[in-house]
Amino acid sequence: MLITGANSGVGFKTAETLICMGASVIMACRNRERAENAREQLLADYPGADVRIMMLDLADLDSIDAFAEQLPDVDVFVNNAGLFHRPGQKTKQGFEMVMGTNYMGVFYLCEKVLPKLRECGHDAALVNTISLVYRFARVDYGRFYDERGAYFRSKLCLAKYTEHLAKLYKGTNMHIYMNHPGLAATPIADNLIHRGMYILAKIVPINSAEKSALSVAWILSNTVPDGSIVGPNRLLGGWGYPEINRKSGKAETGAEELAGFTKKELADRWPPAEEFFRTVV
Ligand SMILES: NC(=O)c1ccc[n+]([C@@H]2O[C@H](COP(=O)([O-])OP(=O)(O)OC[C@H]3O[C@@H](n4cnc5c(N)ncnc54)[C@H](OP(=O)(O)O)[C@@H]3O)[C@@H](O)[C@H]2O)c1
Repeated sequence: MLITGANSGVGFKTAETLICMGASVIMACRNRERAENAREQLLADYPGADVRIMMLDLADLDSIDAFAEQLPDVDVFVNNAGLFHRPGQKTKQGFEMVMGTNYMGVFYLCEKVLPKLRECGHDAALVNTISLVYRFARVDYGRFYDERGAYFRSKLCLAKYTEHLAKLYKGTNMHIYMNHPGLAATPIADNLIHRGMYILAKIVPINSAEKSALSVAWILSNTVPDGSIVGPNRLLGGWGYPEINRKSGKAETGAEELAGFTKKELADRWPPAEEFFRTVV
């Protein structure tokens, strides 16, 4: 199984849960030291577990290309990595950092990795991690890279793209899902404190990373319809144990148009992407 951002927060706990269930895990991480530390922690608890590290920076399409070229066969792919509010920052190819990482980078990585799932010879699963805030976002192509609302928009775009994939691969060996952690106590929340949402974080109950990380194991061990969103079962999806959440219509509209727009945007800034999208089915 492949999990991005497996060195921290929900990703780390997802890796731990799946190792506990006997999975071989590839941790796709951008920082070697943080990844090695996380791997050591996992091996301390599960000596002999099959846990490998591969370097991946979702904010650099070049890194995604290099990663995909070296990736061995996988049958479960969890796109967990993401970040929140990075004012003034841009990805290597010049996209606004949050949209460029949480959506553009994940989109490009998915397009590269999906053929491996398709060809694995048995059932395979893709789980893309969104956020319940996708409900409050809208996609405006005129303001696509606006920093304001970028996190919300990035997760709505990822929800639409995942919906598009679920329809595209329906009836094949590939099962496409979304998950979200609700509100989980992880380093991503440090940013919330800087954003003045500390009081909210104190009032509203917050899941442990362990509890939020159960969603992938829950998806893999239940019969979950393709395209479902799995997240906590209480407080409108903010807290609790995993279950299928009600999907907002926002995830379902305009997905094909968005996928076409995204391919063109990536190809405009990154010539290898143009070549790749020309050959990919
Ligand atoms: N915690 C919540 O309440 C919450 C709510 C809704 C959705 N989510 C989503 O849940 C997912 C996991 O977040 P978390 O809460 O566990 O936060 P986290 O502890 O900060 O973990 C985020 C992971 O993503 C990695 N990452 C960030 N940018 C990357 C890049 N350019 N390339 C590769 N990896 C990158 C981070 O790597 P480094 O350690 O090197 O920075 C880290 O491993 C994210 O997609 C987040 O948007 C979280």
